[in-house]
Amino acid sequence: MAVAVIVLAAGQGTRMNSDLPKVLHHLGAAPLIAHALAAATAIEPARVVVVAGHEAEEVRQAVALFCPEAEVVIQAEQLGTGHAVATALPRLDGFEGRVLVLYGDTPFIRAETLRDMVAARADVVVLGFEAAEPGRYGRLVTSRAGLERIVEFKDATPEERAITLCNSGVICADAAVLARLVAGLTNANAAGEYYLTDIIAAARAEGLSAAVVTCAEAETMGINTRAELARAEALFQARARAEALDNGVTLTAPDTVFFALDTWIGRDAVIGPNVVFGPGVTIESGAEVRAFCHLEGCHISRGATVGPFARLRPGAELAEDVHVGNFVEIKNSILDEGVKVGHLTYLGDAHVGERTNIGAGTVTCNYDGVMKHHTEIGADAFIGSDTMLVAPVRVGAGALTGSGSVITADVPAGAVALGRARQENKPGLAAKLMERLRAEKARRAGGKA
Ligand code: UD1
Ligand code: CA
Repeated sequence: MAVAVIVLAAGQGTRMNSDLPKVLHHLGAAPLIAHALAAATAIEPARVVVVAGHEAEEVRQAVALFCPEAEVVIQAEQLGTGHAVATALPRLDGFEGRVLVLYGDTPFIRAETLRDMVAARADVVVLGFEAAEPGRYGRLVTSRAGLERIVEFKDATPEERAITLCNSGVICADAAVLARLVAGLTNANAAGEYYLTDIIAAARAEGLSAAVVTCAEAETMGINTRAELARAEALFQARARAEALDNGVTLTAPDTVFFALDTWIGRDAVIGPNVVFGPGVTIESGAEVRAFCHLEGCHISRGATVGPFARLRPGAELAEDVHVGNFVEIKNSILDEGVKVGHLTYLGDAHVGERTNIGAGTVTCNYDGVMKHHTEIGADAFIGSDTMLVAPVRVGAGALTGSGSVITADVPAGAVALGRARQENKPGLAAKLMERLRAEKARRAGGKA
């Protein structure tokens, strides 16, 4: 059955105390809304509509990045969840099928739960949960016939407030039914808002059926404050670690490894302690990342080893059996099979051919203060320690650079390039020099007394 998803994300999130709209705060190195969109896209919806309001342009950019197929509509004034859905529905004009309404600030909803909602046999389906502390959640009023209505906390009687079955906010109904019910909403309630939740009572009054699908409370956790965001981050990391272990990844010290929403690690990879994954990291089976590495936007192939203390930045691509050692930073560079970069090196905007060895302290001087330039190093080359490669520059296959060289011109294949001052030895000078320095020290000390 065709499904369309509406993601509500217009609220400012006042309690975040932030200039940034709530749904753009990060969880697992991705904006909150990316999590809801990931669950939504996992069920392969025909359409996705995001309702934005506060800082809509920024929200639109994030949505374009994480879910390019989604449309964004603007709800200029936040008049309630029912009004937000009404703002989105014109974009679904002509769509026939189920519509799922999600919140952009609820990151842990699983795709399986959404599938259960779509599969449930009732005209309107609500995702509920048994709340440990029901607090201000809307309460689900049920009878033998199923779900009767949802009452918001503000409008609830003491008896209704005693109900622990709560509304997660996720709702599913046929597009035409939803459009008709939403069109009939009013704002005659304690908050003066158009409550989406009122469609349940309206559906029942029409003789339609309503049902509750339940899920674990943790799945429906919404983020309203920085404290909740911090708790959500801990929960996200705990799940990501457990998932990695389940997938056959070795984590030496799981509690010290931090994942991003899109981190992908193959079976039998080994991740040491204190490793941080930013967005866009993929690691093939059998690769090893040693302690204290920071990785983002990079790919590590089978058999490669990275770290300890390495930093891989966006565009770092390590082919099979590459070795990157301590205090090495790599940005926007491709390292072909078997390349070794053992120590204290910066490679930026470079391509290094197969089996080449990069000596300690090598730097690609890729930035001239205005533009970035490329460094090309061929296969089987040997870059001597402390070589400065002033880009744009090319070092040919099998070439060698002398330690301490500043390479400003291309090096032909097979050549040795020496770009350093010639050494001069002064026989016997060392003792004389020391004598002169000691005398100078004594003179200064005497002057002070
Ligand atoms: C809502 C539900 C409540 C449920 C709770 C779960 C209603 C009336 N109440 O209450 O039953 O228990 O969620 O968390 O639906 N939004 C818009 N436009 C608006 C208003 C809201 O896009 O005009 C978005 C918000 O950005 C947010 C979501 O809808 O992502 C929920 O809105 P919020 O104001 O937080 O609803 P609650 O009062 O928490
Ligand atoms: Ca809320």
